[in-house]
Amino acid sequence: MKKIGMLTSGGDCQGLNAALRGVAKALYHELGKDVEIYGIRDGYRGLIEGDCQLMKPSDFSGILIRGGTILGTSRQPFKLMQVPDENNVQKLDKMKETCRKMKFDCLVILGGNGTHKTANLLSQEGINVVTLPKTIDNDLWGTDATFGFQSAVNIATNVVDCIHTTATSHGRVFIVEIMGHKVGWLTLYAGIAGGADVILIPEIPYSVDKVAKVIKDRNQSGKRFSILAVAEGAKSVEEAKMSKKEFKAARAQMLEPSISYRLARELGEKTGQEIRVTIPGHFQRGGSPCAYDRVLSTRLGTAAAQLIKDGNFGNMVALKDGKIVPVPLTEVAGKLKMVPKDSEIVQSARDLGISMGD
Ligand code: F6P
Repeated sequence: MKKIGMLTSGGDCQGLNAALRGVAKALYHELGKDVEIYGIRDGYRGLIEGDCQLMKPSDFSGILIRGGTILGTSRQPFKLMQVPDENNVQKLDKMKETCRKMKFDCLVILGGNGTHKTANLLSQEGINVVTLPKTIDNDLWGTDATFGFQSAVNIATNVVDCIHTTATSHGRVFIVEIMGHKVGWLTLYAGIAGGADVILIPEIPYSVDKVAKVIKDRNQSGKRFSILAVAEGAKSVEEAKMSKKEFKAARAQMLEPSISYRLARELGEKTGQEIRVTIPGHFQRGGSPCAYDRVLSTRLGTAAAQLIKDGNFGNMVALKDGKIVPVPLTEVAGKLKMVPKDSEIVQSARDLGISMGD
């Protein structure tokens, strides 16, 4: 009898249920009554507190198209993984104790960057772990794509599309602030797909003067509206030169609630135009996964089940050059996949005349 514990951790996204279903169905299909799957509630919180529940095959039926996660989620429990603080050690011990008590042969962990740091730590401590890459940010190292990303791109694109129609009618400048944490994948894809005129991402610091010039030039050429897709993590050229500490202090003093509102004020002052801000926020993580994510989640799920059957632990299942492959957790944990400044997709945006603000 194999006993498997599954958990979803970190911010939710589309495709989590599809992935859980993929793992479970493949395991039940292959092992039948020789497998028991336990759902661990609310991510690592449930693992720490031993909050586990035996699942039935029917629990995984009808969830392919459902957003969110049937297991619940929470942010990862360690703030500073590098610092071996007593609290962290206690939490880790409790997680190991739950695995021992429950006699888990393997933990299946679905999560993003923070989640993978903890998954790697558990693996280093001798727990059998297989992970799946989820996040709308697409910032996980070792995989070409994470599930959730494409669904979020669709939603953010839809927002930019809708803003386009009202912006053209009124001849206004709009900023659409797009999620993505410290990286610009979501903004870049939604910006290109939505036909944005300016795309600002954290990887390419922007100059307010250059962005203002784009708006003025467009005006002079008879284009009364402009659409700016701005990543929530975008930074100005001046901010990019600051140390982490200086940057934090500068942002703490910022009067506006987000970077987009500050940019709107600055651009308004420099162009004399009315600038509006739209922030779709968590809307981008909600709802049903798109077809691409349903397929990706399913493929990753069945591949994870295969790794469990083979006893191939300590890996994340990843998409690489069109194939699903295992990547060691040690290679994934603690690394961010950022948009390369000189990537083909950035060049494509530039070739089209989209300003990257630099
Ligand atoms: O990591 C996914 C994400 O949605 C980021 O894009 C965003 O910065 C963050 O989570 C928001 O976190 P929370 O849901 O905790 O507000």
